[in-house]
Amino acid sequence: MVRVEVLEGAELEPLIPELARLRMAIFREWPYLYQGSLEYESRYLAKFVALPESTLVVVRDGERVVGASTALPLREAEAEFQAPFVAAGLDPGAWYYFGESVLEPAYRGRGIGVEFFRRREARARALGYRQVAFCAVERPADHPLRPPDYVPLDGFWQRRGYTRRPDLRAYFAWQDLSEAQESLKPMVFWVKQL
Ligand SMILES: CC(C)(COP(=O)(O)OP(=O)(O)OC[C@H]1O[C@@H](n2cnc3c(N)ncnc32)[C@H](O)[C@@H]1OP(=O)(O)O)[C@@H](O)C(=O)NCCC(=O)NCCS
Repeated sequence: MVRVEVLEGAELEPLIPELARLRMAIFREWPYLYQGSLEYESRYLAKFVALPESTLVVVRDGERVVGASTALPLREAEAEFQAPFVAAGLDPGAWYYFGESVLEPAYRGRGIGVEFFRRREARARALGYRQVAFCAVERPADHPLRPPDYVPLDGFWQRRGYTRRPDLRAYFAWQDLSEAQESLKPMVFWVKQL
């Protein structure tokens, strides 16, 4: 049976190994192509454990974690993600920031992605935020690893009420599967007023 549950702060701790495994498996796919490391994953996820205002929407099939979606105050996110807001004269303290949504392929197309947004927006409201944002990697249209049948998520995000903001652009480093070392990836923000 598939269950969706919202966890906060320290409640995430027991799930770290499962979340790290899931993130590394899904982010290997286009468009992230992420060559993950367990060491980076543990550090990244520890931040959520330490923050009472963090959110994890977790999807389990039985005891197995098959999907997850995270959020936290933008002022607690990496400096790279706050930078475009500061540069645009926007206060990072006024925004709740959505991190990743990852779901095993067998569980896609049944509305869990919609539920990820619904639950994170509800948590943002409960914490007093009226502005939410997330960002997505920008890959060249002719990238050799782009699957020919890939359907971009832009339409899905627009239907959830998000607006693409090309003026809010972040640069974040990770190592692609095809790279020998990390390089900066351009990422564009999408925003919504609750
Ligand atoms: C993003 C993701 C979590 C969405 O999950 P999902 O449960 O398939 O989403 P839903 O079932 O709620 O459907 C969302 C949209 O995906 C599309 N969709 C339907 N079936 C799909 C499938 N089998 N695979 C991918 N997308 C599908 C639909 O168009 C739907 O949009 P609409 O209802 O507004 O028309 C999932 O595709 C995923 O894990 N992708 C890989 C990681 C990623 O790119 N994450 C986003 C950035 S962090």
